Amino acid sequence: MNVLLAGGAGYIGSHTCVELINTGHSVIIADNFSNSCPEAVKRVEKLTNTQIPLYEADVCDKEAVEKIFSENKIDAVIHFAGLKAVGESVEKPMLYYRNNIDSTLTLLETMSKYKVNNFIFSSSATVYGTPKTVPLVETMPTGSPTNPYGWTKLMMEQILSDTAHANPDFSVVLLRYFNPIGAHESGTIGENPNGIPNNLMPYITQVAAGRLEQLGVFGDDYPTHDGTGVRDYIHVVDLAKGHVKAIEYAAVNTGCEVFNLGTGTGYSVLDIVKAFEKVNGVKIPYVIKPRRAGDVAECFANADKAEKILGWKAEKNLDDMCYDSWNWQSHNINGYK
Ligand code: NAD
Ligand code: UD1
Repeated sequence: MNVLLAGGAGYIGSHTCVELINTGHSVIIADNFSNSCPEAVKRVEKLTNTQIPLYEADVCDKEAVEKIFSENKIDAVIHFAGLKAVGESVEKPMLYYRNNIDSTLTLLETMSKYKVNNFIFSSSATVYGTPKTVPLVETMPTGSPTNPYGWTKLMMEQILSDTAHANPDFSVVLLRYFNPIGAHESGTIGENPNGIPNNLMPYITQVAAGRLEQLGVFGDDYPTHDGTGVRDYIHVVDLAKGHVKAIEYAAVNTGCEVFNLGTGTGYSVLDIVKAFEKVNGVKIPYVIKPRRAGDVAECFANADKAEKILGWKAEKNLDDMCYDSWNWQSHNINGYK
């Protein structure tokens, strides 16, 4: 299939490009580089030995998106092009609603015009809000995300589900990611956050690289096995492979389906620190800090539905995730710069 990756130069998009190309699909990337750079795409081209059509475009911009659809025969769209910094979304909610929702609407309208019927969406476990029980199953209620970023995801899920409902030819796959970490085994592409990282693994790798002094562990008084927050960390390459399964599923089905993409196992912050130190032989100094507002004690997936229906299961373990994260960062101390 010919797949348009909106936001394909970013962390998950670049890894998905590699897996799509490796399984015989073709990709086109549209990205405005608000949180990425063309170098990531160059590295994907080198890894896969292919040339990738790349459009520097804001996918909220109708004319720019129309140009891409008029110049390419597109079979499916994967929509990664979102802003994702939770704290920033609290400070600048309009920026998040405008970018995340407009981009979705513009893509959908253009797809309708060009009769492209397959849409894969990067959703998040954040749509479950504060879990009453874990593991999280797709049938559990969504609602009450703790921040505007999470609300944009929930609103986009609704928009996409309504669109599929109204159009019997349309196929939507909502992928609820848990916590992607790790990097391609080559160490040439990986996560490259702007400024001080908000998320745990890039913070750890930057401490290991000497760019940051020590990790702050947000709370050690949660009702978990060691008091620190538990999450379902998933290797980004496993996550990327989930997208290949999702476009293949969308091509032969209609309607709207939702899948958790996680491993089904929860690890605490200190489990991650210990595993990282052991696998890489690097010390991660840390200090316990107060809880971070909006954090939940435990969040991990039941990923049985993706295995049963998509034939997808995460294969890499925590050691792989820690090794590959450091392999990327240690070979690219300043990311793509
Ligand atoms: P990322 O920031 O690395 O990638 C997003 C890409 O989209 C970037 O390259 C950015 O430049 C681009 N972009 C943003 N707005 C755009 C626009 N209007 N037009 C064109 N390009 C635009 O983030 P990521 O980690 O790869 O995440 C991809 C998607 O998955 C996002 O929608 C994010 O919300 C979602 N998600 C990520 C995580 C995570 O932990 N990384 C978890 C759950 C969901
Ligand atoms: C966060 C977002 C979530 C988003 C996801 C991907 C919040 C509340 N949730 O998930 O909506 O989909 O990122 O962008 O922001 N931690 C530390 N020290 C740090 C960083 C993190 O102790 O410096 C802890 C956190 O408290 C948490 C765990 O590490 O227990 C994972 O945090 P993080 O990587 O930010 O992911 P989430 O909070 O799960």
